[in-house]
Formats: sequence, C-alpha cells, structure tokens
Amino acid sequence: MPPRFLEYFFLVEQNSEQVAHELVSEIMKNYLIIGASSGIGEALTAELAKFDYRIYGTYNSTETESHGNIHYHHLDVTGDLNLDFLPEKLDGLVYCPGAINLRPFKRLKPQDFLDDMNLQVIGAIKIIQAALPALKKSENASIVLFSTVAVQSGFNFHSQVSVSKGAIEGLTKALAAEFSPTIRVNAIAPSLTDTPLSANLLNTDQKREANANRHPLKRIGNAEDIASTAAFLLSDKASWISGQIIHVDGGMSTLKV
Ligand SMILES: NC(=O)c1ccc[n+]([C@@H]2O[C@H](COP(=O)([O-])OP(=O)(O)OC[C@H]3O[C@@H](n4cnc5c(N)ncnc54)[C@H](OP(=O)(O)O)[C@@H]3O)[C@@H](O)[C@H]2O)c1
Repeated sequence: MPPRFLEYFFLVEQNSEQVAHELVSEIMKNYLIIGASSGIGEALTAELAKFDYRIYGTYNSTETESHGNIHYHHLDVTGDLNLDFLPEKLDGLVYCPGAINLRPFKRLKPQDFLDDMNLQVIGAIKIIQAALPALKKSENASIVLFSTVAVQSGFNFHSQVSVSKGAIEGLTKALAAEFSPTIRVNAIAPSLTDTPLSANLLNTDQKREANANRHPLKRIGNAEDIASTAAFLLSDKASWISGQIIHVDGGMSTLKV
C-alpha cells in the first residue's frame, strides 16, 4: 500500500478526520475531459471511472447527467469559458472537441479554416491556459490532445482538418518542451474511428467495408481503441513519455500491405 494511504488510515485512527480529508483530496487523481459526452471522450470517461478517480467531464450539445465520481458541466469552447468547477489540483486534461469537414480545397473559404481552428486549436489553448495552475499542482500531470492520421499522410479533401491538426501537433511539441519536467504533453493521431463524429463517413455497409479494407489491420477503429491509449498517456505508466504523437490508426500511416 502506498505510504500516503497508510498516512490516511493513521490519521483516521487518530480521529484527525479533517486532516485525513485534506490528504485524500491531495492523493485522489482529478481528470478534466473536455468533450466527455460522446465518442472517444465518453469511452475514456467510462475507462477512468473504473478507478477511484474524480472526473470532471464537459458536454456541449448532448446534456449528460453526473453520476458517481463523474461530474458533468456544460461548456462550449467557442464561447466564454467558465471553469469555476475545477478542483485546485488537476492530474490530467484531455481535449476532445474536433471536426472532420472533408471538402475540395477550392470550395473552402478562409472562414472555414478559421472556424475549424477556433474549435480544434484555440479552444484547446484557452482550456490549457485556464487549467495550467491546477495542472502545476500535480506530481505527474499529463495533457492529451488529438491530431489525425491525415497530418502524417496526405489525403484528398482533408486540407481543413489537416491545417488545424497540424497546429495541434506543433502545439503538442512546443508545450511538451515548455512545460517539462512538470507537465507531460502528448497527442494521439487516430485514423477513422467509429464515433458520432465520423457517422457520415460510415453510414452504409459499403462505406464501412471499404474504409475497413483501406487499413492494414482491416478494420475501423472504435472509441475504446483510442480511449485506452489516452488513459495510458494520463497514467503514471507513461511518466517518461512527452512530446509524442502516438499513431493509433490500424497501421494506416506506416504500413504498406
Ligand atoms: N472519429 C474519428 O474518426 C477521428 C479521427 C481522427 C481524429 N479524431 C479526433 O478525435 C477527437 C475526438 O473525436 P470523437 O470522434 O470522439 O468526436 P465526437 O464523438 O464528436 O465527440 C466530440 C466531443 O466534443 C464535444 N464538443 C464538440 N463541440 C464542442 C464545443 N464547441 N465545445 C465544447 N465541447 C464540444 C462534444 O460534445 P457534445 O456531443 O455534447 O456536443 C463531444 O463530447 C477529435 O479531436 C477528433 O478530431 C477523430
């Protein structure tokens, strides 16, 4: 049993319940999941909820009720941020909001790129800046961001998302350097993953089969494939990993089979 827990039981035995309570708040891990109401963020929240963690999850349009150790709050990252609900110490932050608008470059307007940047990049920047003081209070703080396979490998009609996610990859590396050794920063670059975000790309059996076959591992990703990597990056097991773009993509970015 870790020494801090032994200290807790000792304090309870000594009837120092107030001090014991403060110690629990210090030991218990707190995670903030922006976009915990759907897809990968929802799967990650379910994964973390298996442990004795306190999870602060946000939703935008899908109203979600708090239960157990999961506390949900409404938040639209494109508006004014109110993160009053955050605890003093945060051990991890995961930023899930994203978009996949696939259109030919000639049909896109500069405003489309700006809107995408606002959601995917400026939103992440605002959240990280707001959470920074709390993250600095943790002994192993970790930030996880999301890129896409389309940054490493060029695909048709992906210019809008590639611009935003390319910025996310740059931000990941810059912040990993700037925040070291206190806070680790990594990004996951998934390929097509079966979530509400990709529903339009997977709405027929034919599309599902064709997309599965494009991947060397011959299937589409599911939310749990990506969430388990995010949970690992948050954990102490990843305490020597920072500044990395982890490709969870069925082999798409590196294998030719
Ligand atoms: N799915 C894929 O194929 C795929 C592939 C590559 C990369 N990714 C990346 O992986 C990440 C997670 O994607 P996902 O598939 O899990 O997406 P998702 O199912 O659409 O979930 C996105 C989450 O972000 C929240 N959100 C959306 N707009 C928001 C806003 N303006 N303010 C605050 N929260 C907002 C959503 O809340 P509500 O539902 O409550 O509105 C939802 O909880 C994204 O960054 C995405 O770009 C996904």
